[in-house]
Amino acid sequence: MAEPLVLAEKLEGGVGLLRLNRPKVLNALNVDLMKELAERVQEMERDPEVGCLVLTGNGRAFAAGADIQEMAGKSPVDMELSEPFASWETIYRCKKPIIAAVHGYALGGGLELAMMCDIIVAAEDAQLGQPEIKLGVIPGAGGTQRLPRAVGKSAAMEMVLTGEAISAERALQLGLVSQVTAPEVLLEEALRLARSIAEKPPVAVRMAKEAILSAYETTLAEGLRWERRAFYFLFASQDQKEGMAAFLERRPPQFKGR
Ligand code: HXC
Repeated sequence: MAEPLVLAEKLEGGVGLLRLNRPKVLNALNVDLMKELAERVQEMERDPEVGCLVLTGNGRAFAAGADIQEMAGKSPVDMELSEPFASWETIYRCKKPIIAAVHGYALGGGLELAMMCDIIVAAEDAQLGQPEIKLGVIPGAGGTQRLPRAVGKSAAMEMVLTGEAISAERALQLGLVSQVTAPEVLLEEALRLARSIAEKPPVAVRMAKEAILSAYETTLAEGLRWERRAFYFLFASQDQKEGMAAFLERRPPQFKGR
C-alpha cells in the first residue's frame, strides 16, 4: 500500500496531529494530498474526543506550495474541473481550532494553508512567502486576501509582488505568526497550545473561533451583534453553569461539551 500523504494521530489531551507527508518534494500540495488532508480534518472534526488540531510538515519544510509539476501543463478548464479548492475549503470551514506548526519553507499554497489555520507558530528557521509571481501566476488559495488582513497592505504587496520570503522573526513583527520557537521545540509548543485549547469548553471554543473569523468578513457593528448573540447563547450551555460554579466553589471545572 502506498504511504499516506497525510499522517493522522490522536494524542493525549484531546489533540489531533496531522503531518503533511511528501517530504521528498518538501510536502508540495498536490490534489491527492489535499483530498487526504480534507478527509483527515473532517474525521477529527467529527471525533468528540478531539478538541484542537495541529498541522505540521514531515521533513525539512512545512510545505513549499502547490505541486508545480502537477499544475504546469494544465489549462484553465483542467484547473476548474479538478476543483482543487474544494479540499482547501473543508480545512477553512473546520469548526475546531487548527494550529499550524511551521518550520522550514511555508511558500505559496503552503503559506496559504497555514493562514487558513487559526494560529501559526513558527520555528526560527521558517521562511514564509508567496513566490507565485515568479511562476507567472498569483496566490490562488487566499493569499491576496488573507495576507493583507494579517500583515497590512504594504507588507503584503511587498511579499506578493517581489515573491521574496520573510523570516520567522519578521513574520512575528508583522503579526503573521503568534510566536517563534527554537526548531526543536516547535511541535512541543504547538501541542502545548493545542492541549490548552482542547481542555476548554468546546461550545465556547467554537463560538470564539467563529466570532473572531467573522471579524474578517463583516462590519464592526454586525460583528459586535454576532458576538453579543453568541455570548448570550452560551448562557444556555451546561458548561457555562459548570465553569462559573467551579470558579465560585474554587474547584477545577468538568466540561462536557454541552
Ligand atoms: C513541486 C517541488 C515544489 C513544488 C519543491 N519541490 N517545491 N515540487 N512543487 N512547489 C521539489 C523539488 O522539485 C525537488 O524535487 C525537491 O522538492 C526539493 O526541492 P529543491 O528545490 O531541490 O530544494 P532547495 O534547493 O532547498 O529549494 C527549496 C525551495 C524550492 C526554495 C523551496 O524548492 C522552491 O523554490 N520551490 C518552489 C516554491 C514555489 O514556487 N511555491 C509556490 C508554488 S505555486 P527533486 O525531484 O528535484 O528532488 C502555489 C500556488 C498555490 O503554491 C495555489 C493554490 C492551489
